[in-house]
Amino acid sequence: MQVSVRAGAAERVVADALVLGLFEGTSRLTGAAQAIDKATGGAIARAIKSGDFTGKNGQLIGLYPSSGKIQRVFVVGLGESKDFSAERVRQAAGRAITQGRLMGLKHVATMLHGTGKGHLDIAASAQAIVEGSILGNYVFGTYLTQDKDRKRQVRQLTVVCERAQLAAATKGAKKGEIVAASVCLTRDLASTPSQDMTPADLGAAAKAIAATSPLLKATVHGPDDLKRMKMGALLGVGRGSAQPPRFIVVDYRPKGPIRKTIAIAGKGITFDTGGISLKPADGMEKMKYDMSGGAAVLGAMHALGKLRPAGIRVVGLVAAAENMPGGRAVKPGDVVTAANGMTIEINNTDAEGRLVLADALSYAHRLKPDAVLDLATLTGAVVIALGSQCGGIMGNDADLTTFVIESGERTGERLWALPTWPEYKELLRSDVADMRNSAGREAGTIAGAMFLGQFANGYKWCHLDIAGVAWNDRDKPYSPKGSAGFGVRLLVDFVERMAAAKK
Ligand code: BES
Ligand code: MN
Ligand code: ZN
Repeated sequence: MQVSVRAGAAERVVADALVLGLFEGTSRLTGAAQAIDKATGGAIARAIKSGDFTGKNGQLIGLYPSSGKIQRVFVVGLGESKDFSAERVRQAAGRAITQGRLMGLKHVATMLHGTGKGHLDIAASAQAIVEGSILGNYVFGTYLTQDKDRKRQVRQLTVVCERAQLAAATKGAKKGEIVAASVCLTRDLASTPSQDMTPADLGAAAKAIAATSPLLKATVHGPDDLKRMKMGALLGVGRGSAQPPRFIVVDYRPKGPIRKTIAIAGKGITFDTGGISLKPADGMEKMKYDMSGGAAVLGAMHALGKLRPAGIRVVGLVAAAENMPGGRAVKPGDVVTAANGMTIEINNTDAEGRLVLADALSYAHRLKPDAVLDLATLTGAVVIALGSQCGGIMGNDADLTTFVIESGERTGERLWALPTWPEYKELLRSDVADMRNSAGREAGTIAGAMFLGQFANGYKWCHLDIAGVAWNDRDKPYSPKGSAGFGVRLLVDFVERMAAAKK
């Protein structure tokens, strides 16, 4: 979708639809809303007066003016003014663009939402609108050949503002475009069937991403490199597959002095059959998204290469493998040695995400990082515990955890903290090795985090279990059914805030 920002009178904009956001309980229309109302012959005021439009969050009505330039007006409810946030704007924009997309409209124009006193500044509003619009307009169409309507998308978005707002709105819109395009990239990677998104394909995607910015460099390590780096856990997971594993490193280095280094690691299981501890057939096709953490890391690196935050080095790590039950596969009871020298009894080959991340987190030590985050579709247990409204977060530093949660609040990617008391380590005791990889059904999500924590000692670290939020089983306002691209916006916000923070 092509995005442009234009200053001028809303009622003179030529588009298939014009989007106007109103707060709940708006009784008197002022400014642009008043002008649009006038241009529609008072239709908006009538919709309010009749009680049909209340401005309740999520409400959307379409009006068809009988004269003037405007074809349609979509009036969207922003909810109560006191509950307002950028998330409301993204949702309103997502709902409006979805309506336009389903109607087959080509060009949607929109006013800035919620830029009144005490709400959002101009750049933030423009960014949120562009993000919500691009993300809501997303269609994964690679494999659709017949029904053209299924691929229908809005082609053009015009953000309308006042002359004095033009510079800030343009800046915000540009940022929104970069961030949203990066989320869409992540969604594409996660949606692509595993046959076309092998560990090698994921490596190629990382290379292609690095080529989009002179500040990015990608290195893709194959099986021989993994042996040299003693990544026995990642190699072990990959052994049952005809598709050999990869360890992918994408390095972002800005020009000028570097004050901080951050590593972001992602689980990149391109398909999870469960291995010898085979998963049930029902729903197994969804396990192509088991590389969503890795895809989010790659999407974030793509965004950073374009946004170019100063003073901070960010290293993206993706541990990529296909978890298959081949003749050479690891078997329950086998012991592998991770890159940090620790031995792991694999009592369940389906707990493979923590194995590949063990080697990624061991690798991260050499970067002397100020903080490390990992993202992984790690456990079914987190879906049971938290559902699809938030991811789980666990770590070894309370301040870092809070800081990451705050980024999620800002971007609408919510996280909820679970405990990591040392007593939980008992769950992972093995009779033959330093630890085992599965604790069975008890505290499944925490057990996964406790396992990872063994490899993340020595730096500040948070683990995000995104199994419940990486994929939508139903539409959300700006995240259609399918891959959500969860984590990309959060990671970008986190890096920018880390770069800006004093210590
Ligand atoms: N990829 C799965 C977790 C998952 C489940 C992601 C559902 C998305 C939706 C992971 O590799 C896995 O199989 N975890 C096991 C761990 C258990 C064997 C300790 C699980 O959750 O059952
Ligand atoms: Mn598994
Ligand atoms: Zn998995």
